[in-house]
Amino acid sequence: MNPSNRPLEVCLQGLQRLEYRGYDSAGVAIVSPGMDQVAYEKKAGRLNNLKAALKRHPLPEGTVGIGHTRWATNGEPSDVNAHPHMSQDGKIALIHNGIIENANKLKFDLETEGYSFVSDTDTEVAAKLLGKVANQIIAQTGKPDLFEALRRTSKMLTGTFTLLAIDVRQPSIVVGSRHDSPLVIGVGKGESFLGSDVAAFVAYTHQAIEIGQDEAVEIEGDHVTVTDFDGHPVTPRHFTVDWDASAAEKGGWPSFMDKEIHEDPEAVSQTLMGRFDLDGRIKLDELHISVDELRSIDKIIVVACGTASYAGLVARYAVEHWCRIPVEVELAHEFRYRDPILTPRTLVVAISQSGETMDTLMAIRHAREQGSKVLAICNTQGSSIPRESDAVLYTHAGPEVAVASTKAFVAQIAAAYLLGLYLAQVRGIMFKDEIETQLNALRAMPKKIQWVLDHDVDTIKKTAQKMVSSKAFLFLGRYVGYPVALEGALKLKEVSYTFSEGFAAGELKHGPIALVDEGTPIVVIVPSPRGRNVLHNKVISNVEEVKARGADTIAVAEVGDRKAAEYADVVFWRPECPTLMSPLVDVVPLQLFAMYMAMAKGNDVDKPRNLAKSVTVE
Ligand code: M6R
Repeated sequence: MNPSNRPLEVCLQGLQRLEYRGYDSAGVAIVSPGMDQVAYEKKAGRLNNLKAALKRHPLPEGTVGIGHTRWATNGEPSDVNAHPHMSQDGKIALIHNGIIENANKLKFDLETEGYSFVSDTDTEVAAKLLGKVANQIIAQTGKPDLFEALRRTSKMLTGTFTLLAIDVRQPSIVVGSRHDSPLVIGVGKGESFLGSDVAAFVAYTHQAIEIGQDEAVEIEGDHVTVTDFDGHPVTPRHFTVDWDASAAEKGGWPSFMDKEIHEDPEAVSQTLMGRFDLDGRIKLDELHISVDELRSIDKIIVVACGTASYAGLVARYAVEHWCRIPVEVELAHEFRYRDPILTPRTLVVAISQSGETMDTLMAIRHAREQGSKVLAICNTQGSSIPRESDAVLYTHAGPEVAVASTKAFVAQIAAAYLLGLYLAQVRGIMFKDEIETQLNALRAMPKKIQWVLDHDVDTIKKTAQKMVSSKAFLFLGRYVGYPVALEGALKLKEVSYTFSEGFAAGELKHGPIALVDEGTPIVVIVPSPRGRNVLHNKVISNVEEVKARGADTIAVAEVGDRKAAEYADVVFWRPECPTLMSPLVDVVPLQLFAMYMAMAKGNDVDKPRNLAKSVTVE
């Protein structure tokens, strides 16, 4: 941030809000006029360690500052590897997200010139290099120019990076640059901010600016200059952040995960809001792909990772059924490497909560290079994936802070369903009343999700507590219940560290049933008995099969399902709804189950070990 009487305070609160992105160490640096060297502090561990160190050894007042929380990719988490890193003369401090791939070569060259290194990080290499370039500029021109030094340095780096730097010789500016890594600008009154996402500064301003690929920024007071790496000015896109800082606070909930699960209903209703014209037809204003292009699509490929990919798998059943367009769903990191068949008539749909998942970003770049259109379903304004897509459909789930994705999942399904029905509308595949029936069913879902949150929490909590020492869980589902099983297993493993795998129930006899033994816990997503009977009967037979082999069964089933009640040991009930809508309610007890299991084990449910909220490296 820049310049202000409170750079340290702003940095620390920004780090607090961004801590979910990575949290094995943290550091801050500040400069002010008259300083000879940057003042900084950095500590391994949670942000509280840094705060305690700052209490013991307070930093002097600063005019500008930078702060960083680190998730180690290069060098173990330790005080010395924490950011910021300093130039050789200590006049410049630098923080970095990403991985600098040519760091070893640059380090070798710098060492040959007499530079010495104290850490194992690629960031220190960038800091030393920036210091060298900055001093060369001073030698050439007689005055410091940190902005130009950062641009020149950025051009010498390969890999992925967001860099921010301050210099004691220019104590009123902060400079930044980005290549394949996020950075947004916030503009306040007399001050401005740079952050990996808007959460860093939304407490101070809602006015934000995107920074494009291979661009650099200098902020001074509320004056913002953005250029490309060659110094040519660019006109960046401004936007207003549509949520308040309080949305990213716990607000009395014991954890963000608990809060965000309870926001599932609102995440769906907000995502549907404002997307219909006066005739009730779907209007997706932000979709900048022409109706003619949408009519010409002959294939959809969904690319995503983790939970977002399971939302894509759910959507496939509905979109193929409604639109009669083949839909493939592919993990973004696999998609890139298999030479997928893409044409201008392929619509690639990238689903991402953060909008920064590097694997997904790379997949959409690949798709666009092949001439396909890319549509992003994303929850984060100003992030890289929507910025690099042809069109975007924002989910309006509000900021998701807990590492385990919950409300974003239901919002992604709602958005993908809207897209599917919109395609059916513009392609004339469904009659208006058929679309309305589906939309009404979708609009009814927030209340049904709320029903689960109001009715079944106690059973779920007690079951989780009872099963806390179970070693492994299997999750089974058929049709749309299959991706829900995958998601239930992912939630449980990531927050409770319990081995869990999801399977298509029909696959049971092809292998997984060999795992079933006395007391093996099996969670089964049971389809509605009112729907396609064959589906319900088949899943109930699966429950019987595993029960016969001694499994402990938990069913997620529709209220009134007598067979589920008869065969399962425990039932998590959910209200009646059409089968295609059922993932929106079926997943909710599984989110709660994972959370309660993690709590029973004493885990930090918001920050599970080894995981970060945004995976911005490949
Ligand atoms: O931000 P994204 O939706 O692109 O993230 C994708 C995955 O990394 C994410 O869903 C991850 O699997 C979550 N931790 C799941 O809870």
